[in-house]
Amino acid sequence: MKLIVFSLFLWATLVVSVSSDLASDRAALLALRAAVGGRIRLWNLSSSPCSWTGVNCVQNRVVELRLPGMGLSGQLPIAIGNLTQLQTLSLRFNALSGSIPSDFAKLTTLRNLYLQGNGFSGQIPGFLFTLQNLIRLNLANNNFSGTIPESVNNSTRLGTLFLENNHLSGSIPDIELPSLVQLNVSFNQLNGSIPKGLSGKPKSAFQGNSLCGKPLVSCDGTESSGSKLSGGAIAGIVIGCVLGVLLVLILLICLCRREGGKKTKTKDIAPAKLAEIEIPADKAAGESDNKNGGALSGVVKNDAKSSGNKKLVFFGNAPRVFDLEDLLRASAEVLGKGTFGTAYKATLDMGVVVAVKRLKDVVVSEKEFKEKMEVVGAMDHQNLVPLRAYYFSADEKLLVYDYMSTGSLSALLHGNKGAGRTPLNWDTRSSIALGAAKGIAYLHSKGPGISHGNIKSSNILLTTSYEARVSDFGLAQLSGPTSTPNRVDGYRAPEVTDARKVSQKADVYSFGVLLLELLTGKAPTHALTNEEGVDLPRWVQSVVREEWTAEVFDLELLRYQNVEEDMVQLLQLAINCTAQYPDKRPAMDEVTSQIEELCRSSDQRT
Ligand SMILES: *[C@@H]1O[C@H](CO)[C@@H](O)[C@H](O)[C@H]1NC(C)=O
Ligand SMILES: *[C@@H]1O[C@H](CO)[C@@H](O)[C@H](O)[C@H]1NC(C)=O
Ligand SMILES: *[C@@H]1O[C@H](CO)[C@@H](O)[C@H](O)[C@H]1NC(C)=O
Ligand SMILES: *[C@@H]1O[C@H](CO)[C@@H](O)[C@H](O)[C@H]1NC(C)=O
Ligand SMILES: *[C@@H]1O[C@H](CO)[C@@H](O)[C@H](O)[C@H]1NC(C)=O
Ligand SMILES: *[C@@H]1O[C@H](CO)[C@@H](O)[C@H](O)[C@H]1NC(C)=O
Ligand SMILES: *[C@@H]1O[C@H](CO)[C@@H](O)[C@H](O)[C@H]1NC(C)=O
Repeated sequence: MKLIVFSLFLWATLVVSVSSDLASDRAALLALRAAVGGRIRLWNLSSSPCSWTGVNCVQNRVVELRLPGMGLSGQLPIAIGNLTQLQTLSLRFNALSGSIPSDFAKLTTLRNLYLQGNGFSGQIPGFLFTLQNLIRLNLANNNFSGTIPESVNNSTRLGTLFLENNHLSGSIPDIELPSLVQLNVSFNQLNGSIPKGLSGKPKSAFQGNSLCGKPLVSCDGTESSGSKLSGGAIAGIVIGCVLGVLLVLILLICLCRREGGKKTKTKDIAPAKLAEIEIPADKAAGESDNKNGGALSGVVKNDAKSSGNKKLVFFGNAPRVFDLEDLLRASAEVLGKGTFGTAYKATLDMGVVVAVKRLKDVVVSEKEFKEKMEVVGAMDHQNLVPLRAYYFSADEKLLVYDYMSTGSLSALLHGNKGAGRTPLNWDTRSSIALGAAKGIAYLHSKGPGISHGNIKSSNILLTTSYEARVSDFGLAQLSGPTSTPNRVDGYRAPEVTDARKVSQKADVYSFGVLLLELLTGKAPTHALTNEEGVDLPRWVQSVVREEWTAEVFDLELLRYQNVEEDMVQLLQLAINCTAQYPDKRPAMDEVTSQIEELCRSSDQRT
């Protein structure tokens, strides 16, 4: 009896406390509404605060308040601090002014604070950096003055700190935070030297100040003896690094040699039978109107007269379960026509399914072709579509890849827009972006001269679990200098004039367009055919220059309101990738780590 009474009592206090917590959240929101107005005047006061625009609750507590561009103006009241379970507060792009209220110190669960694009002024309060959960802080484009608080260095989880375009002065405090990935203090009135802990950040993060030291020009004379000493130390470090890098390089080269030797050891198959098979050139017709289910040999005809000793050349150690004959006997279905030829889905008699790409306009010699293919075949990464085998004769060049049943990102994004379409949510899109980035970064890691050369959404294939696999790499150099018009498309970086010479930075540009495509759901323009589509980088920049609005994003994505900040960050990254000048674009591994960071923060939220 006692127990029941006790538990009843407990239950009652729980209910009371839960509802009173929401009531207190509600009171705080109403105080905010009364003070700053704007579009939150439209909140329906007779319904639960959890249903109000921009308010997200978990277990009946407000955890997110996102009011970007809602026309809020005036000073923030003492109120938001009462939302004690708040994790994300976004008030960016409003007309708020005054200082950050002192009660923000109570927001101990706060992870993301976005106040950029307002008229906030006064000092940046030091207590912000004692909020132990704070990961992202964006105070850019305001009117903050005074110095950057020393306490920044206490913010052990801080990953993003954006303070650009304010009136901050003095020197940057000694910040040494391993977690800090993104930093920008540009266009303030900061002076003095950049602390060592930030010397690895990009130059543009510090521009528009009177700062010196790495990554900017070194601070001269004034720091006499100290600078000499640190100069010696730096020299030591540099020498150490150079030696280390050399050692790693040597190791890598040895490893690559061995790996390469293993991977590209090619083996010829069933020479007797295949010796008879030669494939003629006259097959432009077959390519154009092959119907589903026809045999591949109907497309790629045998010519028994010629008896070049031509075989399917395999890569890797996978069992060779089929030969050229099997392949030609397979039923074929056109998957699509790409830049370098037509791709078929070939279903072999024994049930194996592969993708066969029939290359056109190959101008290189057999030797050169073989060498190029060995390089492509040696690429081994989980985000690349592996090349399994190739066939080369004077008139036919075939590439055999793993077949990806889910098709391409392009088909998924722009294909069936009608009913029955599975919407692509943010998690899927961001993980596709990450997978593709990893695949491309891997290619780039194989040497400064190695690029993909043809990044676009139709070359990002997907597994059944929507993992991205990059295909078609290394084919650009096989084709002739007369780059065909359809290669000029919305993905190509402005500096690229020869489709065979695409630098890594040009790959980054194409990848940036791909990110924009993922975010906006819009296909990039095809400059010459001038089909529907837009010059994505220019269009996005024109919209964003006006104001960061939801307008740029794919409507399908806007259903997932709680990811807007991440979307904006990915958009920013995409814009950086599509910078006009190659030097301004980040490297692919940096792009990868930024997307990784975004994905991680999305995970944390759910
Ligand atoms: C915030 O909470 C305090 C203490 O519970 C309360 O006195 C105050 O009225 C609340 N403020 C608002 C704006 O709800
Ligand atoms: C406000 O919410 C109440 C209760 O949920 C609902 O009955 C009413 O129709 C809503 N009013 C408006 C204007 O949406
Ligand atoms: C920014 O703050 C300064 C004083 O620090 C003030 O003179 C100026 O008017 C403010 N600008 C805006 C746009 O609020
Ligand atoms: C933050 O760091 C400063 C030194 O930079 C130290 O004096 C202070 O005690 C720290 N505060 C907290 C809350 O850790
Ligand atoms: C800042 O924090 C790092 C560790 O997070 C520490 O190594 C460093 O000494 C701190 N710097 C100052 C000035 O407190
Ligand atoms: C930085 O600027 C302030 C004035 O804003 C000045 O007092 C200080 O001496 C300057 N420090 C350096 C290192 O130039
Ligand atoms: C920092 O902000 C400035 C001004 O918005 C921008 O030009 C620059 O590219 C940014 N740099 C980084 C590393 O974010």
